Amino acid sequence: MCPTLRLHGDLTRHTPPPTWAERAKLWCDRIVTYARRIDLRSDTVTQPDETMRVAMSGAEVGDDVLDHDPTMRRLEEEVADRLGVAAALWVPSGTMGNLIATTIHLRRGDRFLAPRGAHVLEAELGSTAWLAGGMPQPLDWANGPGRISADDVRAYASAAAPYYSLTTRLLCLENTHNFAGGTVTPPDEHAQLVAAARDAGMLVHLDGARLWNASVALGVPPAALTVGVDSVQVCLSKGLGAPVGSLVGGSSSFVTEARRVRKMLGGGIRQGGVLAATGLVALERMDDLAADHANAAALAAGLAELGWEVRPPETNIVIAAVPDTTAALESLARLGVLATALPGAIRFVTHRDAPAHDIAEVLRRITAARSPAPAA
Ligand SMILES: Cc1ncc(COP(=O)(O)O)c(C=O)c1O
Repeated sequence: MCPTLRLHGDLTRHTPPPTWAERAKLWCDRIVTYARRIDLRSDTVTQPDETMRVAMSGAEVGDDVLDHDPTMRRLEEEVADRLGVAAALWVPSGTMGNLIATTIHLRRGDRFLAPRGAHVLEAELGSTAWLAGGMPQPLDWANGPGRISADDVRAYASAAAPYYSLTTRLLCLENTHNFAGGTVTPPDEHAQLVAAARDAGMLVHLDGARLWNASVALGVPPAALTVGVDSVQVCLSKGLGAPVGSLVGGSSSFVTEARRVRKMLGGGIRQGGVLAATGLVALERMDDLAADHANAAALAAGLAELGWEVRPPETNIVIAAVPDTTAALESLARLGVLATALPGAIRFVTHRDAPAHDIAEVLRRITAARSPAPAA
């Protein structure tokens, strides 16, 4: 007998067993329930809500390529202020923001360092190498998942190297580190990494697609996590619910150059204020990320209770080790739960469109289906 029916039986212990019609209804209910998908593939799957749609329709706009769209300008100033940098530029995606920054920083014959599994290494189709021109050098997670050590940065200093060696020009940091499981680099460790890079004559770019999550998890302002960087990229379309938009920030001269490179890449958006308006709404929602973190913690705890091998999450990303990712994703999909695969693991990302009751429902479905606990 299926777990749902068994539960029904327990609850109605003093009444006659369910009729076939009642049993059929229970199965139908179950099918309907599972048909409602709970999408934990990413925090990018959120839908712009009514407030954002209203903000879009009322946005003051202008031609951002010819002049400067007034709503984009407002958003850029607001984000620069929050990040503690002189200026910022709206770009359509985090990938473009990273590419613009690395294009400005790198020349052919240069090497860039990044933590193993960084988005710039794994999920941007090698554009930092083949467009920006830098040779990638992944660094091990010597300080814990997603976190590199200052000693390893120093090891790549190129001052004393012969002329035919690569010049290590750039350190790319990522906070939080996505594929390590949304792990956070705290401000003191960030400062040590920046100092090591500076001493070795390197520039520093920070991929802060989820810097807001790190800031909320640590209870420090975002600017505390950008100290000393030459450029930083942040996303509004992850966790904060905007449908599109990232910003790349740095000095005024960096942003002047970034505007030119954005145009080169076809990223000049004319009346972009309709998009930037959603970003201004998104910024007001920063504190809501704490709920995503609590939901991730609840999901991880529930999965661990069911025998899954999970690390307690630091922010909104839960990584569960599984022996067969394809089979695990398929079983989850049959329950109407969507996640993504990493090597040897499943990644669940909590977000504002999957509130606490959805997380409880995910655990209920997995429990009900008696999902085999994936042994590591
Ligand atoms: C750490 C990190 N950097 C950059 C990006 C790229 O952002 P986009 O999808 O907007 O290009 C992502 C996307 O998930 C990310 O996780």
